[in-house]
Amino acid sequence: MASEIVLLITERRSRQHITLPGTKTLYRFGRGPQCEYVLRRNNIGDVQFTISCENDVWRLRDGGSTVGTWYNNRYIHAGESCPLQPGDLIGLDTNGDASTQEITFRVEDIRKTDTETGGVRRERESGALREVDVRKKRRVLIGRGEDCDIQLTSDRVSRHHCEVVYKNGHFELHDLGSTNGTYLGGERVRTAVLENGAVINVPTQVFAFTGGVLHYNEYQAGISVELVNVYKTVKNRNTGKPLNIVDGTSMAIAPNSFVVLVGGSGTGKSSLLTCITGTAPCTAGQVMFDGIDTKGNRNAFDAVLGYVPQQDIMHDNLTVEQSLTFTARLRIAHDATRAEIKAAVARAIEAVDLGGREKTLISNLSGGQKKRVSIAMELLASPRLLILDEPTSGLSPDLDRSMMELCRKLSQENCTVLMVTHNMSNINLCDKIAFLGVGGVLCYYGAPEGLNDYFDVSLTSDIFEKLRDPEQIEEYRKKYFTTAEFNDLVAQFPAAAQEADKRCKN
Ligand SMILES: Nc1ncnc2c1ncn2[C@@H]1O[C@H](COP(=O)(O)OP(=O)(O)OP(=O)(O)O)[C@@H](O)[C@H]1O
Ligand SMILES: [Mg+2]
Repeated sequence: MASEIVLLITERRSRQHITLPGTKTLYRFGRGPQCEYVLRRNNIGDVQFTISCENDVWRLRDGGSTVGTWYNNRYIHAGESCPLQPGDLIGLDTNGDASTQEITFRVEDIRKTDTETGGVRRERESGALREVDVRKKRRVLIGRGEDCDIQLTSDRVSRHHCEVVYKNGHFELHDLGSTNGTYLGGERVRTAVLENGAVINVPTQVFAFTGGVLHYNEYQAGISVELVNVYKTVKNRNTGKPLNIVDGTSMAIAPNSFVVLVGGSGTGKSSLLTCITGTAPCTAGQVMFDGIDTKGNRNAFDAVLGYVPQQDIMHDNLTVEQSLTFTARLRIAHDATRAEIKAAVARAIEAVDLGGREKTLISNLSGGQKKRVSIAMELLASPRLLILDEPTSGLSPDLDRSMMELCRKLSQENCTVLMVTHNMSNINLCDKIAFLGVGGVLCYYGAPEGLNDYFDVSLTSDIFEKLRDPEQIEEYRKKYFTTAEFNDLVAQFPAAAQEADKRCKN
């Protein structure tokens, strides 16, 4: 039976998933041009290591260079081979342990491929690591047009969006008058010199520039969100003292997953959302998209975000189609043709299942349908992360279910979805639930199936009661630190563990 291996490559702040199918038997990683994965660094071998699938077993083999390959907690010797399992860590650095590795390859998954796979999986597999050597090409054109060297599919990208040129021994980034901007290190730029290690953002795509090469993860629908020790501290209006309304949240939301955020009223759900959207940023900690800190990059990341607040802002006396067309004209690149705008509006209408309602006035829609129009407006901008604050409050139970189904569908096809809800009846449709206790404390983050056992209740509604009691809240805060979800995050961001240790000592 065929299988494939998924690796998470972490290099400083950048993280990329790659999937290697078992159909090809050998993958070489190293400095030499013959490698399938060329690693541009001097201190490693031409072929530093290989990964191969032999008789259904994935193996790591050292390439025999003078530099050892780090495997979990030791160096393997020249030519040595070890079987790979999920959780295994491969590193390249010569001087230390797992925490000092500059680049690591973590085995995320090994799975069979000839079974029917769900939409989520197919989407995740479509991301592939790409490189374009600017020194060779001299000019690399990025945009929506067919003549571009790197063609991006989003309507938010202009036909000729930006270019990277190599001249007189240095590299320059030029914005070509794009509608939605080219960002370098979080700042919108017209023309800028590119330094080694630069991060370039255009709508829906991030590029890392090192050694004259643009590296990017070919368009992957959803982004991941990582929160590490996130706090929001406000001045308490009653006492004047500092008050945490988001209290040290650490969690990782996988790309193309559907996560539901629940908790009693006033537990800080909306506050946590606005930390992520940046509308009211956190006062301490890190919010990362695809492993890149959003602080200082906020403008650049706005392009990937869709946010539907609780109150709909819509023109009641327009039809669904008119309203969406207006929004599309604002959001889509100005050089889009009428046909392109029409197609984008039609796609958005179809995505939220409002086909047949194009000519209906917004004022004649039901509450649930209006919500769908709000979501469609966000979809026009091809968000890679969609955030919804209580889209179903005040809706009837059947509409709640269909909204949850819609979110699930969107997460599988288009983006990562994070939604706040009070309604627990359809939570089995989400991938993960985050449960907050009073005071903005994350008490559970995991699969919906595990919820009642974790809290030792038979009725989900009893959890709300438990999470009003400060002692229980502290108990569950600590319990979360023992879960697989938290430990997976710690493997990437050790700072989360230090904070957890401090909490457990108190
Ligand atoms: N300046 C402040 N002083 C005291 N408390 C504050 C202040 N600002 C916010 N809060 C409190 O922070 C908490 C978090 O508010 P938030 O709106 O995020 O909660 P929520 O979980 O979204 O609630 P709901 O379910 O009602 O929408 C609330 O209890 C609110 O009263
Ligand atoms: Mg709220």
